[in-house]
Amino acid sequence: MALDKMENVSSKVTVPRGEIVEFEGVPLTKPIYSTLDRLCKFKARPDDLLIATYAKAGTTWTQEIVDMIQQNGDVEKCRRDTTYRRHPFLEWSIPEPPALRYSGLELAEAMPSPRTIKTHLPVQLVPPSFWEQNCKIIYVARNAKDNLVSYYHFHRMNKGLPEPGTWEEFMEKFMTGKVLWGSWHDHVKGWWKAKNKHRILYLFYEDMKENPKKEIQKIMKFLEKDLNQEVLNKILHNTSFEVMKENPMANYTKEFQGVMDHSVSPFMRKGAVGDWKNYFTVAQNEKFDEDYKKKMSDTSLVFRTEL
Ligand code: A3P
Repeated sequence: MALDKMENVSSKVTVPRGEIVEFEGVPLTKPIYSTLDRLCKFKARPDDLLIATYAKAGTTWTQEIVDMIQQNGDVEKCRRDTTYRRHPFLEWSIPEPPALRYSGLELAEAMPSPRTIKTHLPVQLVPPSFWEQNCKIIYVARNAKDNLVSYYHFHRMNKGLPEPGTWEEFMEKFMTGKVLWGSWHDHVKGWWKAKNKHRILYLFYEDMKENPKKEIQKIMKFLEKDLNQEVLNKILHNTSFEVMKENPMANYTKEFQGVMDHSVSPFMRKGAVGDWKNYFTVAQNEKFDEDYKKKMSDTSLVFRTEL
Protein backbone atom coordinates (compact mmCIF):
# COMPACT_ATOMS: atom_id res chain seq x y z
CA MET A 1 0.00 0.00 0.00
CA ALA A 2 1.31 3.45 -0.85
CA LEU A 3 2.50 5.47 2.15
CA ASP A 4 0.01 8.28 1.68
CA LYS A 5 -2.84 5.73 1.64
CA MET A 6 -1.53 4.09 4.83
CA GLU A 7 -1.42 7.47 6.59
CA ASN A 8 -4.94 8.05 5.48
CA VAL A 9 -6.08 4.79 7.03
CA SER A 10 -4.28 5.37 10.34
CA SER A 11 -5.85 8.82 10.70
CA LYS A 12 -9.34 7.38 10.31
CA VAL A 13 -10.08 6.18 13.80
CA THR A 14 -13.74 5.48 14.30
CA VAL A 15 -15.77 5.77 17.49
CA PRO A 16 -19.01 4.10 18.51
CA ARG A 17 -22.14 6.26 18.42
CA GLY A 18 -22.34 8.47 21.53
CA GLU A 19 -24.55 7.52 24.46
CA ILE A 20 -26.70 10.01 26.31
CA VAL A 21 -27.14 10.50 30.05
CA GLU A 22 -29.57 13.02 31.51
CA PHE A 23 -28.54 15.55 34.12
CA GLU A 24 -31.36 17.68 35.58
CA GLY A 25 -33.38 17.05 32.46
CA VAL A 26 -30.54 17.91 30.07
CA PRO A 27 -29.23 15.08 27.90
CA LEU A 28 -25.42 15.06 27.87
CA THR A 29 -22.81 12.67 26.54
CA LYS A 30 -21.42 10.22 29.09
CA PRO A 31 -17.97 11.90 29.16
CA ILE A 32 -19.56 15.34 29.72
CA TYR A 33 -21.70 13.90 32.48
CA SER A 34 -18.68 12.45 34.24
CA THR A 35 -16.79 15.79 34.16
CA LEU A 36 -19.66 17.87 35.58
CA ASP A 37 -18.02 18.20 39.00
CA ARG A 38 -14.81 19.49 37.51
CA LEU A 39 -16.75 21.69 35.16
CA CYS A 40 -18.59 23.29 38.04
CA LYS A 41 -15.28 24.15 39.69
CA PHE A 42 -13.78 25.60 36.50
CA LYS A 43 -11.99 28.89 37.24
CA ALA A 44 -13.04 31.52 34.73
CA ARG A 45 -10.77 34.56 34.52
CA PRO A 46 -12.14 38.12 34.28
CA ASP A 47 -10.83 38.60 30.74
CA ASP A 48 -12.29 35.34 29.40
CA LEU A 49 -14.76 35.66 26.57
CA LEU A 50 -17.42 32.96 26.39
CA ILE A 51 -19.18 32.14 23.13
CA ALA A 52 -22.36 30.29 24.02
CA THR A 53 -24.85 28.76 21.61
CA TYR A 54 -27.28 25.94 21.17
CA ALA A 55 -25.46 23.48 18.89
CA LYS A 56 -25.68 24.40 15.18
CA ALA A 57 -26.73 28.00 15.76
CA GLY A 58 -23.65 29.50 14.10
CA THR A 59 -20.97 28.90 16.73
CA THR A 60 -18.08 28.30 14.35
CA TRP A 61 -18.99 31.35 12.28
CA THR A 62 -19.06 33.54 15.40
CA GLN A 63 -15.79 32.03 16.62
CA GLU A 64 -14.12 32.93 13.33
CA ILE A 65 -15.47 36.49 13.47
CA VAL A 66 -14.28 36.89 17.05
CA ASP A 67 -10.84 35.51 16.29
CA MET A 68 -10.49 37.74 13.22
CA ILE A 69 -11.39 40.77 15.37
CA GLN A 70 -9.01 39.75 18.13
CA GLN A 71 -6.19 39.18 15.61
CA ASN A 72 -6.91 42.57 13.95
CA GLY A 73 -7.86 40.87 10.68
CA ASP A 74 -4.64 38.87 10.39
CA VAL A 75 -5.70 35.80 8.38
CA GLU A 76 -2.46 33.91 8.97
CA LYS A 77 -2.79 34.22 12.74
CA CYS A 78 -6.34 32.92 12.54
CA ARG A 79 -5.05 29.87 10.70
CA ARG A 80 -2.65 29.03 13.56
CA ASP A 81 -4.88 26.10 14.52
CA THR A 82 -8.36 24.63 14.10
CA THR A 83 -11.39 26.34 15.65
CA TYR A 84 -11.64 23.39 18.01
CA ARG A 85 -8.21 24.13 19.48
CA ARG A 86 -8.05 27.91 19.20
CA HIS A 87 -11.11 28.16 21.43
CA PRO A 88 -11.46 25.38 24.01
CA PHE A 89 -14.86 23.71 23.80
CA LEU A 90 -15.37 23.82 27.54
CA GLU A 91 -17.52 20.79 28.33
CA TRP A 92 -16.48 18.62 25.41
CA SER A 93 -14.58 15.55 26.40
CA ILE A 94 -13.43 12.57 24.38
CA PRO A 95 -11.36 10.32 26.66
CA GLU A 96 -10.49 7.83 23.93
CA PRO A 97 -9.24 6.61 21.51
CA PRO A 98 -5.91 8.46 21.93
CA ALA A 99 -6.00 9.81 18.37
CA LEU A 100 -9.21 11.67 19.16
CA ARG A 101 -8.62 12.50 22.81
CA TYR A 102 -9.89 15.93 23.80
CA SER A 103 -10.60 17.73 27.02
CA GLY A 104 -11.96 21.23 26.67
CA LEU A 105 -11.35 21.77 30.38
CA GLU A 106 -7.69 20.83 30.19
CA LEU A 107 -7.17 22.87 27.06
CA ALA A 108 -8.74 25.91 28.71
CA GLU A 109 -6.82 25.46 31.97
CA ALA A 110 -3.51 25.35 30.11
CA MET A 111 -4.29 28.31 27.87
CA PRO A 112 -2.77 31.71 28.64
CA SER A 113 -5.10 34.70 28.91
CA PRO A 114 -6.98 36.20 27.23
CA ARG A 115 -9.00 33.10 26.39
CA THR A 116 -12.04 32.67 24.19
CA ILE A 117 -14.05 29.66 25.24
CA LYS A 118 -16.92 27.90 23.51
CA THR A 119 -19.86 26.21 25.19
CA HIS A 120 -23.24 24.74 24.30
CA LEU A 121 -24.32 24.50 27.93
CA PRO A 122 -27.74 25.79 28.90
CA VAL A 123 -27.39 28.84 31.10
CA GLN A 124 -28.09 26.98 34.37
CA LEU A 125 -25.13 24.63 33.83
CA VAL A 126 -22.51 27.30 33.09
CA PRO A 127 -19.71 27.19 35.70
CA PRO A 128 -20.55 29.83 38.37
CA SER A 129 -17.13 31.47 38.08
CA PHE A 130 -18.17 33.00 34.72
CA TRP A 131 -20.85 34.99 36.59
CA GLU A 132 -18.60 35.73 39.56
CA GLN A 133 -15.89 37.11 37.27
CA ASN A 134 -18.45 39.08 35.24
CA CYS A 135 -17.04 37.66 31.98
CA LYS A 136 -18.25 38.94 28.64
CA ILE A 137 -20.44 36.46 26.83
CA ILE A 138 -21.63 36.34 23.24
CA TYR A 139 -24.74 34.22 22.75
CA VAL A 140 -25.93 33.35 19.25
CA ALA A 141 -29.42 32.01 18.62
CA ARG A 142 -30.87 30.59 15.42
CA ASN A 143 -34.51 29.99 14.59
CA ALA A 144 -35.70 26.59 15.79
CA LYS A 145 -36.60 25.18 12.39
CA ASP A 146 -33.27 25.82 10.67
CA ASN A 147 -31.46 24.90 13.87
CA LEU A 148 -33.27 21.56 13.89
CA VAL A 149 -32.49 20.79 10.23
CA SER A 150 -28.83 21.62 10.75
CA TYR A 151 -28.70 19.50 13.93
CA TYR A 152 -30.29 16.56 12.12
CA HIS A 153 -27.68 16.59 9.36
CA PHE A 154 -24.91 17.03 11.91
CA HIS A 155 -26.08 13.89 13.70
CA ARG A 156 -26.05 12.02 10.41
CA MET A 157 -22.47 12.98 9.60
CA ASN A 158 -20.98 12.96 13.12
CA LYS A 159 -20.59 9.38 14.35
CA GLY A 160 -19.65 10.61 17.83
CA LEU A 161 -23.25 11.71 18.37
CA PRO A 162 -26.25 9.46 18.98
CA GLU A 163 -28.07 7.97 15.98
CA PRO A 164 -30.57 10.58 14.82
CA GLY A 165 -33.13 8.06 13.57
CA THR A 166 -35.41 9.23 10.79
CA TRP A 167 -36.09 12.91 10.16
CA GLU A 168 -39.53 12.46 11.74
CA GLU A 169 -38.05 10.79 14.81
CA PHE A 170 -35.35 13.40 15.22
CA MET A 171 -37.90 16.19 14.97
CA GLU A 172 -39.88 14.58 17.78
CA LYS A 173 -36.76 14.32 19.95
CA PHE A 174 -35.89 17.96 19.25
CA MET A 175 -39.39 19.12 20.16
CA THR A 176 -39.33 17.21 23.44
CA GLY A 177 -35.79 18.31 24.31
CA LYS A 178 -34.47 14.75 24.16
CA VAL A 179 -31.39 15.73 22.18
CA LEU A 180 -27.86 16.52 23.26
CA TRP A 181 -27.75 19.78 25.32
CA GLY A 182 -31.49 19.59 25.82
CA SER A 183 -34.43 21.71 24.87
CA TRP A 184 -33.77 24.38 22.25
CA HIS A 185 -36.68 26.38 23.67
CA ASP A 186 -35.30 26.39 27.22
CA HIS A 187 -31.80 27.17 25.94
CA VAL A 188 -32.64 30.31 23.97
CA LYS A 189 -35.11 31.50 26.63
CA GLY A 190 -32.72 30.88 29.52
CA TRP A 191 -29.92 32.86 27.94
CA TRP A 192 -32.35 35.61 26.86
CA LYS A 193 -33.38 36.08 30.48
CA ALA A 194 -29.78 36.00 31.68
CA LYS A 195 -28.83 38.90 29.44
CA ASN A 196 -30.79 41.26 31.68
CA LYS A 197 -28.41 40.54 34.54
CA HIS A 198 -25.08 39.81 32.87
CA ARG A 199 -22.69 41.11 30.20
CA ILE A 200 -24.25 39.16 27.34
CA LEU A 201 -24.37 40.22 23.70
CA TYR A 202 -27.33 38.26 22.32
CA LEU A 203 -27.13 37.83 18.55
CA PHE A 204 -29.26 36.11 15.93
CA TYR A 205 -28.01 33.96 13.06
CA GLU A 206 -30.65 35.51 10.79
CA ASP A 207 -29.34 39.05 11.50
CA MET A 208 -25.82 37.86 10.75
CA LYS A 209 -26.98 36.49 7.41
CA GLU A 210 -28.97 39.59 6.56
CA ASN A 211 -26.31 42.14 7.45
CA PRO A 212 -23.06 40.51 8.53
CA LYS A 213 -21.18 43.82 8.57
CA LYS A 214 -23.58 45.31 11.09
CA GLU A 215 -23.33 42.26 13.37
CA ILE A 216 -19.53 42.17 13.10
CA GLN A 217 -19.52 45.82 14.15
CA LYS A 218 -21.70 44.96 17.15
CA ILE A 219 -19.20 42.30 18.18
CA MET A 220 -16.30 44.73 17.69
CA LYS A 221 -17.99 47.28 19.93
CA PHE A 222 -18.70 44.63 22.56
CA LEU A 223 -15.04 43.60 22.48
CA GLU A 224 -13.99 47.27 22.60
CA LYS A 225 -12.07 46.96 19.35
CA ASP A 226 -11.82 49.81 16.90
CA LEU A 227 -10.74 48.48 13.51
CA ASN A 228 -10.77 50.46 10.25
CA GLN A 229 -13.03 49.80 7.26
CA GLU A 230 -10.34 47.92 5.39
CA VAL A 231 -9.89 45.44 8.24
CA LEU A 232 -13.65 45.19 8.67
CA ASN A 233 -14.05 44.28 5.00
CA LYS A 234 -11.30 41.70 5.33
CA ILE A 235 -13.11 40.13 8.28
CA LEU A 236 -16.37 40.17 6.33
CA HIS A 237 -14.76 38.38 3.40
CA ASN A 238 -12.87 35.77 5.40
CA THR A 239 -15.86 34.86 7.55
CA SER A 240 -18.24 34.43 4.63
CA PHE A 241 -19.72 30.96 4.20
CA GLU A 242 -17.89 30.45 0.89
CA VAL A 243 -14.44 31.28 2.30
CA MET A 244 -14.93 29.41 5.56
CA LYS A 245 -16.13 26.34 3.66
CA GLU A 246 -12.71 26.16 2.00
CA ASN A 247 -10.75 26.97 5.16
CA PRO A 248 -9.45 23.70 6.67
CA MET A 249 -8.89 25.46 10.00
CA ALA A 250 -12.58 26.33 10.20
CA ASN A 251 -14.46 23.65 8.28
CA TYR A 252 -13.71 20.67 10.55
CA THR A 253 -12.02 18.60 7.84
CA LYS A 254 -8.70 18.59 9.71
CA GLU A 255 -10.11 17.02 12.87
CA PHE A 256 -12.31 13.97 13.44
CA GLN A 257 -11.43 12.02 10.32
CA GLY A 258 -13.44 8.83 10.60
CA VAL A 259 -15.89 10.50 12.99
CA MET A 260 -17.25 13.33 10.91
CA ASP A 261 -18.14 12.09 7.45
CA HIS A 262 -18.37 15.15 5.22
CA SER A 263 -19.51 12.97 2.33
CA VAL A 264 -22.73 12.25 4.26
CA SER A 265 -23.25 15.96 4.95
CA PRO A 266 -20.48 18.57 5.09
CA PHE A 267 -19.98 20.53 8.31
CA MET A 268 -20.28 23.69 6.23
CA ARG A 269 -23.54 22.47 4.77
CA LYS A 270 -25.74 25.31 3.41
CA GLY A 271 -25.40 28.25 5.75
CA ALA A 272 -28.83 29.56 4.86
CA VAL A 273 -32.01 30.88 6.44
CA GLY A 274 -35.19 29.06 5.46
CA ASP A 275 -33.71 25.71 4.46
CA TRP A 276 -36.27 24.11 6.81
CA LYS A 277 -38.86 24.55 4.05
CA ASN A 278 -37.08 21.77 2.15
CA TYR A 279 -37.65 19.34 5.03
CA PHE A 280 -40.87 20.13 6.91
CA THR A 281 -44.07 18.71 5.50
CA VAL A 282 -47.18 20.86 5.89
CA ALA A 283 -48.41 18.59 8.69
CA GLN A 284 -45.05 18.63 10.48
CA ASN A 285 -44.94 22.40 10.22
CA GLU A 286 -48.38 22.77 11.79
CA LYS A 287 -47.47 20.43 14.62
CA PHE A 288 -44.16 22.18 15.22
CA ASP A 289 -45.79 25.64 15.22
CA GLU A 290 -48.45 24.59 17.67
CA ASP A 291 -45.92 23.13 20.07
CA TYR A 292 -43.62 26.15 19.58
CA LYS A 293 -46.39 28.58 20.47
CA LYS A 294 -46.94 26.83 23.79
CA LYS A 295 -43.28 26.54 24.68
CA MET A 296 -42.47 30.14 23.70
CA SER A 297 -45.55 31.82 25.19
CA ASP A 298 -43.62 33.05 28.23
CA THR A 299 -40.89 34.99 26.40
CA SER A 300 -40.51 38.21 24.44
CA LEU A 301 -38.00 36.47 22.19
CA VAL A 302 -38.91 36.64 18.49
CA PHE A 303 -37.23 34.70 15.69
CA ARG A 304 -37.34 35.05 11.94
CA THR A 305 -37.64 31.83 9.95
CA GLU A 306 -37.11 33.52 6.60
CA LEU A 307 -35.45 36.66 5.32
P1 A3P B 1 -26.19 24.50 8.17
O1 A3P B 1 -26.11 23.09 8.62
O2 A3P B 1 -27.60 25.01 8.15
O3 A3P B 1 -25.48 24.76 6.88
P2 A3P B 1 -22.24 25.47 14.52
O4 A3P B 1 -20.97 26.14 14.17
O5 A3P B 1 -22.96 26.09 15.68
O6 A3P B 1 -22.11 24.00 14.60
O7 A3P B 1 -23.27 25.77 13.32
C1 A3P B 1 -23.11 25.20 12.06
C2 A3P B 1 -24.05 25.86 11.11
O8 A3P B 1 -23.58 27.19 10.82
C3 A3P B 1 -24.13 25.14 9.76
O9 A3P B 1 -25.45 25.40 9.27
C4 A3P B 1 -23.07 25.88 8.98
O10 A3P B 1 -23.17 25.74 7.59
C5 A3P B 1 -23.35 27.30 9.43
N1 A3P B 1 -22.24 28.22 9.17
C6 A3P B 1 -20.94 28.04 9.46
N2 A3P B 1 -20.20 29.09 9.02
C7 A3P B 1 -21.07 29.94 8.42
C8 A3P B 1 -20.91 31.19 7.74
N3 A3P B 1 -19.73 31.76 7.59
N4 A3P B 1 -22.02 31.78 7.26
C9 A3P B 1 -23.24 31.20 7.39
N5 A3P B 1 -23.45 30.02 8.01
C10 A3P B 1 -22.37 29.39 8.53
